Amino acid sequence: MSHFVNLKDISSKDLRKILIDAKKRKKMRENLSTLEVDKGAPLKGKLLIQMFEKPSLRTRLSFHLAIKQLGGATLTLRSNELHLGRGGETLEDTAKILSTYGDAFMLRTDSEEKIENFKKNLKIPVINGLSPNSHPTQALSDIFTIEEIKNKSISKLKIVWIGDSNNVLNSLIAVSVKLKFNLYVGCPKKYYPNKFILNWAKRNGGNIFIFDDPKKAVSNADVIISDKVISLNDKVDKKKKLKFFKSFRITEKLIKLAKEDCVFLHCLPRGTEVEEKVFLSKKSKVWQQALNRVHVQKSILLYCFNKLR
Ligand code: CP
Ligand code: NVA
Repeated sequence: MSHFVNLKDISSKDLRKILIDAKKRKKMRENLSTLEVDKGAPLKGKLLIQMFEKPSLRTRLSFHLAIKQLGGATLTLRSNELHLGRGGETLEDTAKILSTYGDAFMLRTDSEEKIENFKKNLKIPVINGLSPNSHPTQALSDIFTIEEIKNKSISKLKIVWIGDSNNVLNSLIAVSVKLKFNLYVGCPKKYYPNKFILNWAKRNGGNIFIFDDPKKAVSNADVIISDKVISLNDKVDKKKKLKFFKSFRITEKLIKLAKEDCVFLHCLPRGTEVEEKVFLSKKSKVWQQALNRVHVQKSILLYCFNKLR
């Protein structure tokens, strides 16, 4: 079995295998309806337990469909309904129970430490469904969407992130190193990506270019990606932070500086970082992006169960 917690810890070869498998599986489902099972039902009888410590719509639904389409099922838990952290039950005991009842565990949490502890104590694969420092299933799925739309390897495209240096950007940085593409970031100086991740990228041959001027960052872009300035449970002075990002809003005017066929992606939910006109424009591929989570997460699950063909 393999965990899927941090893209930095997964080989480039395995990440590419996941993307190739997702492409094949998506194609095979063209005439199947939502809950029909893929040929061979590779995860027949398997139970994915998902636990959310923060709200989620897309991650919850996409994992539900992903395992169903592979022949398995999900059980979704809200952390406040468990004994863990409230009734005095240790994480080790919870992990033991999860490992005996379930076959894989997906966790959305506010604590890196918790996900690492689960990784240490579970006997089944753990998947990071968003943590303060990363959102690996989102970032890998976004690479899939970009290559699907552009019909080109990501390494041949100019990929630009405009926005906060958050969990999604950290995972994009990690995958840019693994899949060898240049990543351009436009963000106010005060909110530049943290040195730890930038140093890791540098040591591993990454090419991350950071600009405090959004116009310079988006110039000639093939893809512009953004996310909310204020992430879930972001403990900051929201008004103050939003002020810093005012000139980083994705507007029609800004997007004109990118290539004519540039596309816009956003993982959702959205805030004020993107103009409604842009978000709902033809350039915006956010709905395709959201649905692709299902396809990529199916291949992530197969990777976790060592069942990738
Ligand atoms: N993009 C994403 O992870 O959405 P949810 O927070 O709704 O799961
Ligand atoms: N950066 C956002 C992503 C939400 C899917 C957050 O952590 O809230």
